[in-house]
Amino acid sequence: GISAQEAIRRLGDGEVIAIPTETVYGLAASVQHPDALASIFALKGRPKDNPMILHGASIEQLLPFVEGWSEAHQTCADAFWPGPLTLILRASRQVPSIVTAGLDTVAIRIPNHPMALEILEHAGPLAAPSANLSGSPSATKASHVLDDFGDAVAVVDGDQAAIGLESTVVWAVVEPWRILRPGVIGADEIGHTAQAANINLDPTPTHDETVQLALDDQKPVSPGTIYRHYTPKARVMWFDINLLETNLGDPEQPRTLVVTHTEERRSQIQTLTQKHPSMLHQHAESLDMLAKHLYEWYRDADQHNIHTIFIERFEATTPLATSLHNRISKTVG
Ligand code: TXA
Ligand code: MG
Repeated sequence: GISAQEAIRRLGDGEVIAIPTETVYGLAASVQHPDALASIFALKGRPKDNPMILHGASIEQLLPFVEGWSEAHQTCADAFWPGPLTLILRASRQVPSIVTAGLDTVAIRIPNHPMALEILEHAGPLAAPSANLSGSPSATKASHVLDDFGDAVAVVDGDQAAIGLESTVVWAVVEPWRILRPGVIGADEIGHTAQAANINLDPTPTHDETVQLALDDQKPVSPGTIYRHYTPKARVMWFDINLLETNLGDPEQPRTLVVTHTEERRSQIQTLTQKHPSMLHQHAESLDMLAKHLYEWYRDADQHNIHTIFIERFEATTPLATSLHNRISKTVG
């Protein structure tokens, strides 16, 4: 990997660089370099109608790019930034249209990672989608960026991403605010904070269908959520002992990965692994650990030619569990 200093220099020269954040790695370019912004789309194979998040080191750095910054935005920024929250506001004329994919709104975020903040302070604002090929799971380690882009992108290695899931995206253009993508900062928490400044957040998740329907209206739109996302090549299924045993009984023995997060299920699977040594097993000590490792295990599964991934079920009772559930559900099929 390259140093933060080197990244600052190269971003200033109009290069695309992968940077660590607390959620996932970002593929970043300076908002002042239109060619670099365009090459992010080419590198990722990303549809041109999918806008990018503008990242900054401070509110001051981001304010010139938005219109209508209110007390409610400020209250949320104070409460959650730096952190895994993305706010969508009306875009100012300073935002290059390639960043917003032609929308009149822009997504902004201050990430909570010391190297990202150092880079942003000197080279920001930076537009950065997740640093993966379009359609692949997000990158949570520097090596994942290398796997997807090879020599084409230099990476600042900031260790394994602490959270492992993408930020909560909140449409905060007019009331009611809406959650476009759940994340570890939950709707309740954001709703309470916004309420302190007399702004309502509609906690109903915005499903992909409504997003498509909303494309013509002035309603919340998150183009990214209509694309296939977070997906390994392997088939992902919720754990079911009967399906697993059918799989293991198949003379073709399709290669299987089982992901567990409770002790009970862990020991059941460990017993099965003794009889079926070709089966892989990953265990997370908690749902936090599952979030942190999910994309890594998806990627490992593809490298090991895994055919089916079984993931132990859980209830979406916390914001983290809800966002994890959201990402896994998108891959189940
Ligand atoms: O945690 C994260 O948010 C990571 C790190 C690198 O910051 N970034 C990330 O970016 O996940 P990306 O591009 O993979 O996902 C951003 C999502 C997409 O679904 C995109 O469509 C949506 O945010 N988005 C961006 N700008 C928008 C806008 N103006 N209106 C609606 N949705 C927007
Ligand atoms: Mg992405």
